[in-house]
This record gives sequence, structure tokens and C-alpha cells, in this order.
Amino acid sequence: MKIRLFALIKLCFLVLSVKTESKKTLARPGVKNIVLVEGVRTPFLLSGTTYADLMPHDLARAALQGLLNRTGIPKDAVDYLIYGTVIQEVKTSNVAREAALGAGFSDKIPAHTVTMACISSNQAMTSGREIVSKDNGIRPSSMEQMAKLKPAFVKPHGTVTAANSSFLTDGASAVLIMSEEKALSMGFKPKAYLRYLDFLCDLIYLMPTYATPKVLERAGLSLSDIDVFEFHEAFAGQIMANLKAMDSDWFAQTYMGRKAKVGTPSLNKFNLWGGSLSLGHPFGATGCRLVTTVAHRLKKEGGQYGLVAACAAGGQGHAMVIEAYPQ
Ligand SMILES: *[C@@H]1O[C@H](CO)[C@@H](O)[C@H](O)[C@H]1NC(C)=O
Ligand SMILES: *[C@@H]1O[C@H](CO)[C@@H](O)[C@H](O)[C@H]1NC(C)=O
Repeated sequence: MKIRLFALIKLCFLVLSVKTESKKTLARPGVKNIVLVEGVRTPFLLSGTTYADLMPHDLARAALQGLLNRTGIPKDAVDYLIYGTVIQEVKTSNVAREAALGAGFSDKIPAHTVTMACISSNQAMTSGREIVSKDNGIRPSSMEQMAKLKPAFVKPHGTVTAANSSFLTDGASAVLIMSEEKALSMGFKPKAYLRYLDFLCDLIYLMPTYATPKVLERAGLSLSDIDVFEFHEAFAGQIMANLKAMDSDWFAQTYMGRKAKVGTPSLNKFNLWGGSLSLGHPFGATGCRLVTTVAHRLKKEGGQYGLVAACAAGGQGHAMVIEAYPQ
């Protein structure tokens, strides 16, 4: 059985007050700060290997249990669960509900499952946490070995091979999201603020190019304000195409209805801890991984703003601005 994706979101809605820090912040008076409290994920494994006998909700349940263990949050403090999944398993109707009950959540807590191809967990608003040391998808190779690979899609002349595609991956992730006020009142130290986000539909694979300026404008930021970039890598060629399109006035004017190019992210800030090509891409769980990675990188690198962008099958895309939580 193929198991891909999952992401969980938890929301505690409370009225909250916004604190203005000395450092520039995107906090706005009267707008509730939403924070990422914690993100976890299972190891991402090659599809059909160790997880082959598990149901999707088994993986999701493991991620939920990991989140409960890590945060120590009482199960009854959770108001709602959402999971993203991509290939709907015919033996279960609602992965989120099955996983929640399996992890010991009360049957009084509602749970639903969403699907949006590769951005299902972005849709479920989230992020996953690396257990990179246990990943088995990282595939050391040599240029000679990679050059021998056969085309994956268009045969025999195609140029996309297994070496530059994200591999089919099984895995699950989970994040805990709540209002800042609620998090602080429960004694949590939030990891980051989840700020602006956008979902867009247009050309598949080029959605990061479209979504980046849109979300930056909403946030009142420019590309140079971003310290940490985490873009989903479907294929190496897809990322290269986005970098090229972002650097093109012609593309911006011809396809995006914009006066000038978006600009390209500095590669010194881009996917520094590995991306979907090296780590794997369980379609529904990648959004969580991207967001959690941004939160952790902002902390480690001392940055202020992070940008997540991802494309999804069917021509949809997602971008999110994340702000570091004051230390
Ligand atoms: C959570 O903690 C319990 C007890 O400490 C342990 O038995 C269980 O394996 C842990 N589960 C996960 C998913 O980490
Ligand atoms: C993909 O990798 C192969 C080698 O395996 C290389 O020949 C090809 O040019 C690469 N194509 C793209 C689009 O990255």
C-alpha cells in the first residue's frame, strides 16, 4: 500500500494582544499572532519500504504521538485536528479522525482531512520536524552513476531522471499551532509566528515564482528582507526554472502581469538543510517539514523572516511568510 502525506494542525482560538518588539515585526494591532509551537515528523522513507504494511492513519498516529510526547500538551487542550493526505485510502474515510482516536484523543474533538496534492499539509497549515538522522531516502551517488540513469517520464529522450526528481516517499508529520496568548499561558515557548500566506492557481511547477511576490507584498517585505528560503523541490529542473523565471522581466511582464521581475533568492539562504530532492517528499507531509525547517533555521541563523513556497500537482501553489519568535 502506498502511504504518502499527512499533516496535522491544531488551532486554539483565543483573543489575544500583540506585543511589539524592538526588532522590526509584522505584528499588527488587533490581529492575533498565530505561533508554531512544535513540529515533528516520522522519518521519510522510500515508498513501499518499512512503512509498506502501515495504513496512512498509523503513520499519522505516530506523528501525533510524537507531538504529544514532545510538547506534553494535554490531549483535551486540543480543539481540532486537520490532516492532509493525497491518495485517499479506500479503507478509511477520514485519516485525521482515525489517527486522533488512535492517539487517544477524545471522540469529542472534531477532525477532518484535506487534500491538495503536494501542498496538502500547507493547506492543513503546518510543518513537520526532521528526524533526518533516521532518513533512508538520502541516496549517495556519483556523477558517473547518475549519468547512466534512464529518463523517468518522456522516453527515450527525456532529461528528468531519478537523480533529479524527489523520490516517492512514505512519511507523516504533525505540528501544533495556537494563538500566541494561549501558547504563553500554557507555558510553551513558541518557535515562530505564522504570518501571511497565499494559495494560487496557475502554471504547475512555477507557482513559487507567482506566489512569492504576492505574499511578500501582503507582508510589506521585499525579497532582500528574507533570511531563510525553503522551497519545495519537485525536480531539480523545476527549481532551476523557477529561479530563471523569477529573474526574468520578460516572464513577469508576459505571464504574470507585473512590471518587473520578482528577483532571485540568494542560494546562500536557500534550502540549506536539504530539500525534497534529498530528503524525500511524502506529498501531504512536506508542507509541515518546510515550515518547521524555516522556524528552526531562523533560530539557528538568527534570521528574522522566512519564506516557504511550494508547487502542487494540478497547478496550485502556496507561499507563507514566517517570522522568528523573539528569543
Ligand atoms: C511516547 O512516549 C511513550 C512513553 O514515554 C512511549 O512509550 C512512546 O513510544 C512514545 N511515542 C512516540 C511516538 O514517540
Ligand atoms: C537529470 O539528471 C541526469 C543524469 O541522471 C542529467 O543527464 C540530466 O541533464 C538532468 N536533467 C535535469 C532536467 O535536471
